[in-house]
Amino acid sequence: MEVLRIRLTDQLQGEISVPGDKSISHRAVMLGALAEGETRITNFLASDDCLRTAACMQHLGIEIEFNGGEVVVYGRGLEGLSEPDDLLDVGNSGTTIRLMSGILAGQSFSTFISGDASIRRRPMDRITKPLRLMGAEIIGRDQGNLAPLAIRGGNLKPITYRTEVASAQVKSAILLAGLFCDGWTEVIEPAKSRDHTEIMLQAFGVPVEVDDLSVRVRGKQPLQGCEIAVPGDLSSAAYFITAACLVPNADLFITNVGLNPSRTGIIDILTMMGADIQIVNQRRSMGELVGDLRVKTSRLKGVTIGGELVVRAIDEIPVLAVAAAFADGVTEIRDAAELKVKESNRIAAIAAELHKLGADVSELSDGIRIKGGKPLTGAVVSSHHDHRIALALAVAALRAEGETQITNADCISVSYPRFLQDLVQIGGVVIDT
Ligand code: S3P
Repeated sequence: MEVLRIRLTDQLQGEISVPGDKSISHRAVMLGALAEGETRITNFLASDDCLRTAACMQHLGIEIEFNGGEVVVYGRGLEGLSEPDDLLDVGNSGTTIRLMSGILAGQSFSTFISGDASIRRRPMDRITKPLRLMGAEIIGRDQGNLAPLAIRGGNLKPITYRTEVASAQVKSAILLAGLFCDGWTEVIEPAKSRDHTEIMLQAFGVPVEVDDLSVRVRGKQPLQGCEIAVPGDLSSAAYFITAACLVPNADLFITNVGLNPSRTGIIDILTMMGADIQIVNQRRSMGELVGDLRVKTSRLKGVTIGGELVVRAIDEIPVLAVAAAFADGVTEIRDAAELKVKESNRIAAIAAELHKLGADVSELSDGIRIKGGKPLTGAVVSSHHDHRIALALAVAALRAEGETQITNADCISVSYPRFLQDLVQIGGVVIDT
């Protein structure tokens, strides 16, 4: 499916469960590899990104078994990785390159790591700087800011590090390197980013202390293999939550969704806009909050958002921009400059593509402004090779007059390989190509 063709849709109904959480699936494989004994992962997200993490671990000598939705990682302990005989290729996955670099910084052998054209443009100095401070040797283009990176570590010392941006990838890279240090490694963030690493480290038996914006991990402690049930990915559910708000006659029940408070900005923002979203059956699974969502057609109004709310919805800004295009009044999203260094420049990409559909959108230095209420008309739009742009445009297409064609839509498999089947199952009008 190079081109995804979607038509105006007048109803969305039914019950769906979205695939496993991407962030949690990556971490489960990484920590499972460093643990003693087996780690069983259910509802693992077998998408391009997470399979890259698994392949990297296999190249580092870890045995991993895939049995349908269940994955078994045969951990070899903190000292168990071995030197790979070739470059580690992370594909499109920022989480893989940044978190793996933290682990590789703890190894005394040499590794070379790189990825696709998007990865090779994304800033790496945010991790190479603290990892070098801990004692790792890292060489990369642009003085270590751009992949490919060559990493040789070992003999790390613990640090206390204040990050410049709220980033779970940076925080996690440092904490993972901290596993190989004697003593406590501390990361202090300007705002709280997603905390899946901290939660999962504790599930594997590693001492972790959290105090507001500071996280500390104690190194040289054995990880114990365990069972991890990955909750559904709220970032994937976000496309259906938004679609259910926008499409008339919509009533969707989305089961088993991760509701970690560091991720629920999308629910809070849509609720501020007037969305009818109910959370039911809240429960906890291995420290992570999980629940079911019921979403119905809603009349939305524009909002102004920034600060920690944007951090808690960082991957959902493109689809929020789509919601804003259908809301009454103006929406302004600020403090979102990080979006410029994601898989694509997501501010420029979503602004350009929504504009092609007829929306009134302007880019801001650190965000986006959308004047809602202009009817959208189907057009040929581009994913910019970014899964979240393709998925957000698919939601816009459900409410654009006629047909929308999204080019380079294959990238959807980075996070949500079965998106089309799920969309069709609830009534989305997709044209078979
Ligand atoms: C992720 C952290 C976020 C997010 C990305 C996944 C993670 O990136 O955008 O999709 O799994 O740690 P940053 O750490 O760059 O904000």
